[in-house]
Amino acid sequence: MQQVAPAFQFRFDALAVPLQAFLTMSKKIEYWESDGHWQAYTDKRSKAGPYKSEEYFIKRVLRSRDKALDVGCACGGYFPILKGQQPDIAYQGVDISAKAVALAQKTYPTANFRALDASQGLPFGDREFDYVQCLNVQVHVPDWRNLFRECWRVAKRDLLFDIRLLRQNGEFKSVALMEGGDVPYIFLGQDTVQAMLAEIRGQAQGLHIFGYYHPPQKGAIMPPGLKPDDCCMAILWLSRGPLEPQFEVNLPDGLLHNVGSALF
Ligand SMILES: C[S@@+](CC[C@H](N)C(=O)[O-])C[C@H]1O[C@@H](n2cnc3c(N)ncnc32)[C@H](O)[C@@H]1O
Repeated sequence: MQQVAPAFQFRFDALAVPLQAFLTMSKKIEYWESDGHWQAYTDKRSKAGPYKSEEYFIKRVLRSRDKALDVGCACGGYFPILKGQQPDIAYQGVDISAKAVALAQKTYPTANFRALDASQGLPFGDREFDYVQCLNVQVHVPDWRNLFRECWRVAKRDLLFDIRLLRQNGEFKSVALMEGGDVPYIFLGQDTVQAMLAEIRGQAQGLHIFGYYHPPQKGAIMPPGLKPDDCCMAILWLSRGPLEPQFEVNLPDGLLHNVGSALF
């Protein structure tokens, strides 16, 4: 009997995890509410200080008396770090985990914290914050495009937004297998980042990117065929004000060097 080839065959094996598992998981926030997560985050940030790429930017971006928004603030570990840079800032942290927010508020009573899903919209006005940071969050948020749009919408001057960047084109939805539960882990290819930036073409006057190759967090599964060393930790600094130079890319191997054309 003649075999008829299916018109379209979906290759689940081409994905790091089956799509269904990813979709189910992406709706969950159990991991972010697990004690294991908070044991790791309670004061890890304030003790460890900022990562290499964060340090590179925070010093240059945060200004005296800034109204600052920290999206995905966890237990507020960034509050003392940012205050350490500019003691007179007004800080607002938001996080999807009510548990983390409660802990943050208890630890830092002078700061403001709110529990919400930032990818579903931020309850703030356009350009309400001088400085917005969203660090180590996009990688875990399935609706990261809306997360990016919202962070940019509420930023009056500067946005720091970090990503796990790959040389390959595409969007790679994977997972990180963690003790408290699995979390989405999303890598972005060069073309995907360019498309994300193209959405705000004409709105930013400057873009600086800094990044370095570094394996993703323990438990994160790389897309098929890629090694942990193929992951580039990159931070994007987008500014509505003029930057000198307007466009600066400090990434290994010329990654994303043509991104300027997406923005300006
Ligand atoms: C890896 S932690 C990073 C915490 C902090 N930004 C840092 O760099 O230390 C990711 C945080 O993002 C939060 N998060 C995940 N999805 C979120 C969402 N949709 N909206 C707001 N926060 C979210 C998690 O609860 C968690 O606290």
